[in-house]
Amino acid sequence: MICLGIEGTAHTCGVGIVDDKANVLANELDMYRPEKGGIHPREAANHHSDVVVPLIRKALDVAGVGMRDIDVVCFSQGPGLGPCLRTVATAARALAISLGRPIVGVNHCISHLEIGVAKTDCTDPVLLYASGGNTQVISFTNGRYRIFGETLDIGIGNMFDKLGRELGLGYYAGPKIEKLAAEGSKLLDLPYSVKGMDLAFSGIMTAALVHRARGERLEDICFSVQETCFAMLTEVTERAMAHIEKKEVLLGGGVVQNKRLRSMVKQMANDRGAEMFVPEPRLCIDNGAMIAWTGMLMHNAGVRMTIDETKVDQRYRTDEVVVTWR
Ligand code: FE2
Repeated sequence: MICLGIEGTAHTCGVGIVDDKANVLANELDMYRPEKGGIHPREAANHHSDVVVPLIRKALDVAGVGMRDIDVVCFSQGPGLGPCLRTVATAARALAISLGRPIVGVNHCISHLEIGVAKTDCTDPVLLYASGGNTQVISFTNGRYRIFGETLDIGIGNMFDKLGRELGLGYYAGPKIEKLAAEGSKLLDLPYSVKGMDLAFSGIMTAALVHRARGERLEDICFSVQETCFAMLTEVTERAMAHIEKKEVLLGGGVVQNKRLRSMVKQMANDRGAEMFVPEPRLCIDNGAMIAWTGMLMHNAGVRMTIDETKVDQRYRTDEVVVTWR
């Protein structure tokens, strides 16, 4: 059985093809890169509408399968930017209807967890999902994927990007911040914004910019932002693991490429006799293969959707999904 998945919640349009053994036959993607400023949802959607058909063709080529070999068409139903979601949902519907195949809408956040379980050795992890638009700590308990902690304002990656723009580092600032942080050593005072199990990042950015205005070194600002934010993420993840007694932590999302974040989470896991798992980079970032694989699990567990039910949901909550495949 072969599933094709289309991802398009934010800046990435991706098309993945997987088989029922979780082999990734193709995982093609194209990222919208704004010339200046952040993601404009309409422009990102226009980008997706330009690239989605070529990406489908390329994915089929790479996988070495024909259009007719696709058994199920899956797509990212939410959460995400409305225009982007609607664009890829339209592509998925057109493909499913023209091929006469079932269509499955997938929760994007859950798909980060499912691909991690499929492609690493973990079985029942707590997922630390840290990306541009999302920051959540998720795990499966009592029949659903529950959110144990999440950002109350913006995703951590979004904060890094905004901070990077303000500091003149350009867009996709995460790697640049990481590089500068490695040269920093002075821990500046920033708000440690853990609220119960939730997190907030925008105040940290404001405080960091105040430090910059006072003449602190860029390197020390990046170092302090990383140390503070990653300590917050690690703390919430650890508390979730302790609360539900899980011995595995899985990383997902673009921000987990950061080596300092990994080392902090790994140390926390080691200290509590747990293990950390990280999928390969192309399966960590937003991609079509994770959508295809989660759609495969859902379809095989009997999930069926009418076209009416494939309406996108910008605020699709992880814990709304009725999980029938575990
Ligand atoms: Fe994501």
